[in-house]
Amino acid sequence: MDIFRKKPIQKSPMSGLKKDLKLKDLILLGIGACIGTGIFVVTGQASADYAGPASVFSFLIAAVVVVLNGLCFAEFASRVPVTGGPYSYMYVVFGEFAAWLAGWFLICEYMLAVSSVASGWSGYVQGFLKSLGISLPQVLRGGFNPSQGTYVDLIACLVMIFITLWVNQEAKKALSLNNVMVWVKFAIIGLFIAVGVFYIKPSNWQPYMPYGIKGVFDGAALVFFAFLGFDAISMAAEEVKEPQKDVPRGIIGSILIATILYVAVTLILTGMVPFEKLGIGDPVAFAMRFVDKGLIGSIISVGAILTLLTVSISMLYSLARLVYAISKDGLLPLSLAKVDDKKHTPQNATYVTGVIALFFAAAFPLNILAELTNITALSCLIMMSLGVLRLRKVQGKPKKGEFSVPLVPLFPILSAVTSLFLMTRLQKVTWIVFAVTVLIGTVIYFTYGYRHSLLNDKKN
Ligand code: ALA
Repeated sequence: MDIFRKKPIQKSPMSGLKKDLKLKDLILLGIGACIGTGIFVVTGQASADYAGPASVFSFLIAAVVVVLNGLCFAEFASRVPVTGGPYSYMYVVFGEFAAWLAGWFLICEYMLAVSSVASGWSGYVQGFLKSLGISLPQVLRGGFNPSQGTYVDLIACLVMIFITLWVNQEAKKALSLNNVMVWVKFAIIGLFIAVGVFYIKPSNWQPYMPYGIKGVFDGAALVFFAFLGFDAISMAAEEVKEPQKDVPRGIIGSILIATILYVAVTLILTGMVPFEKLGIGDPVAFAMRFVDKGLIGSIISVGAILTLLTVSISMLYSLARLVYAISKDGLLPLSLAKVDDKKHTPQNATYVTGVIALFFAAAFPLNILAELTNITALSCLIMMSLGVLRLRKVQGKPKKGEFSVPLVPLFPILSAVTSLFLMTRLQKVTWIVFAVTVLIGTVIYFTYGYRHSLLNDKKN
C-alpha cells in the first residue's frame, strides 16, 4: 500500500471545462466569495464580544495570516495550474493521502461555509419579512432545535435550491449574477463608509481594548471567517485564460481589497456606536439607524440580503469544481466528474454538494457551522504552507514568469505557525468534532478512495 503515491503535474488537456475567465472575473470571484457575513455580521460581533474597537487589529492579524497563506496559494496556483486547489497541490508534493485530507477539509469548509451563509441570509430575510408583518410558523424558522420549537430552516432551504440551480448554469452565466452583486456590495459598503465617517465620535473608541490582548487574538480567530473564500480563485484555474499570470494576481488582489474594506467598516462602525451595542444580527444597518439615518439603514439591509447570495454562489461554484477534480482522480465516485455536454459544467457534483449543503443549512445552527468552517480551513492552510517548502525541494525554485513566495522558508513557516495559533483560539468542542471529521475522512480514503484511485496499479 502506497499512500504517498504522487500525481505528476499536468495541465489536464482532457478538460471539458471552458477557458473564458479573466483577471477581472477572478478578483470578482474572490471578493464575491470573501465579503459577506464577515463584513455584515461578524464585524459587530467581534467588536461587542471579543475585542471592542481594537477588533480592527483582529482583522489585521487575520489578514496577515491570510496574506501569508495567499502567497503560498499563489505559488502553487502559478506552478500547478489545475482545478482542485490545495487538493491538487498536495497530490503533487505530499502524495495521495495528504491530497485526500486537504480535499476533504476543503469539501467540509466550503460546504459548511455555504450552509452558514444561507443560514445567516435566512436570518436577515426573516427579520425583513417581520418588519413587513410576515412571520413563518415557528417549526420552519430555524435549524433542528426542539427546545425552541424549530425543526427546519425553510428560507435557508429555498435559497440553497436557488443557488444550486444557478451555479449549474454555464460558469460565465453563474458568475455574471455574482459580478453584478459584487458591485451592489461595493455600493452599499461605500455608502456606509461615505455617510458613517461623518458620525464618528472618537469617544466611542474608548476603552480601545476592553477585553485585553487575549480578546484581540480570540477575535482574530473569529474574523478569519471573513476572509474565507479568497482561495476560490485557484480552484477555477482550469477555466482561466492565463492562469500563471492571473491566478496569483487575483488571490493577492482580492485579499488586499477585502482587508481595506474590513478595516474601514470596523473603524467606522465602532466610531459610530458604542461597541457593547454591536452584538446583533445586522450591525452595519443598525449603526445607521443609531444615528437616525433609518432610510440608509434600510438600503443597506436590502443590499446585504441581495449580496450575501454572491458568497454562497462563489463558494458552491468552487465546491462543485473541487468535487469534480477529486472524482476525476477516482477518490470519489466517477459519476461526480460528469460534465454536462451543453453547459460544460460539472452537473452531478453541483447537485450533490448543493443538496448536502442544503441539509446542513436547514438543520444546523449558524454558530456550529462557522466554527467548524474555520478549523477545517486553517488545517488546510497549514498543509499548504508546508507544501510550499516541499514543492521547493521537489521542483526547485519557480521559473521565470512563475509566482515565487518571498523569503522562503521564513514566510511559509510563519504562515503555518500563525494558522496553528489561530486554531488554538477555537473552542474545545470544535476540536472534538474536528477529530471526528478527520476520522471519517480517513475511513473514506481507506475503504473507497485508495482502491478506486486512478493511480492504483490495477488500473494503470
Ligand atoms: N468570508 C465569507 C463571509 O464572510 C465566508 O461570509
